Amino acid sequence: MKYEFSITKNPNPKKKPDPDTLRFGTEFTDHMFIMDYQEGEGWHDGRIVPYGPLSLDPAAVVFHYAQEMFEGLKAYKSEDGRVLLFRPYMNAQRTNRTNDRLCIPQIDEDLFVEAIKALVKIDADWIPQKEGTALYIRPFIIADEAFLGVRRSNHYKFIIILSPVGPYYVGGLTPTKLYVEDKYVRATDGGTGEAKCGGNYAASLKAQEEAHAKGYEQILWLDGVHRKYVEEVGTSNAFFVIGDEVVTAPLDGTILPGITRNSVIAILKKKGIKVAERKTTIDEIVQAYKDGKFKEMFASGTAAVISPVGELRYKDEDMIINNGEIGPIAQELYDTIYGIQTGKLPDDMGWTVEV
Ligand code: COI
Repeated sequence: MKYEFSITKNPNPKKKPDPDTLRFGTEFTDHMFIMDYQEGEGWHDGRIVPYGPLSLDPAAVVFHYAQEMFEGLKAYKSEDGRVLLFRPYMNAQRTNRTNDRLCIPQIDEDLFVEAIKALVKIDADWIPQKEGTALYIRPFIIADEAFLGVRRSNHYKFIIILSPVGPYYVGGLTPTKLYVEDKYVRATDGGTGEAKCGGNYAASLKAQEEAHAKGYEQILWLDGVHRKYVEEVGTSNAFFVIGDEVVTAPLDGTILPGITRNSVIAILKKKGIKVAERKTTIDEIVQAYKDGKFKEMFASGTAAVISPVGELRYKDEDMIINNGEIGPIAQELYDTIYGIQTGKLPDDMGWTVEV
């Protein structure tokens, strides 16, 4: 093996949660991975240690200037006992694009994936096997040099934690209700919209809370300049079925380049369904709704997989999509992606990586 990590086993393993009541992101496994970066030395000292709190200097750059990034992917156990990761090299590549934007040092792609594999192997018994569950993998990097001036940190920690999860939305595949956000914006040209950094999510909380208070699960963001082009949903990418075409926003710098988004587009193309990455205005969607052409909407993401949308509210327009039920395209995409991820369907695309 190219990379060697030291392992300290947790002397007090926890009781595993009941897969029937698993929520998203509330339970954590027995171990975590940590590796340090020092300017001049590079990444070093990769280690698997018992899961637990970190000790950080209160002056650590991450606390003050939010120099950090995170990723998300999932591990599944197939019926024949294989442990499968879904497209982990895409997470490694996106990490390095985010790192570049946030002035965080690059990390070798193989090192990134090998660290995930080593940790998942140790905690493989934590992978839940009930339909709709998975072991969510959260790699992240924080700038932990103690320094209050504004410049890139000289020291970082790359950490991976694991969380056995149920569906992101409590209702699973039950269609969600979304509110089109027309007051706050998520990203604008030249900003950090396409980077996977915590600041994007911190800045989204206010809009999400206001939408919750109005009875909506999530928001649909509009572009930050004109507030007319649909961009993405709070935690995932957005797809609209208009007539016989599936449309999604193009990757023009303000959209998170989702790995599930990329998989959805590839699957649709393979199935011969028309798909376009193009700018779409909210007015076009409202008009399509009025014309009876707005057939389906769904969000895609690692946490959410495919999450159908049953209602979309924009100003006074309340659009009930496909009678508030999951549509055939969303259902087929969910079955295909989840089937490949869990090894139930053949992996024609070569997307899964065995641990
Ligand atoms: C994911 O889907 O993995 C995400 O990172 C979204 C989220 C839970 C913040």
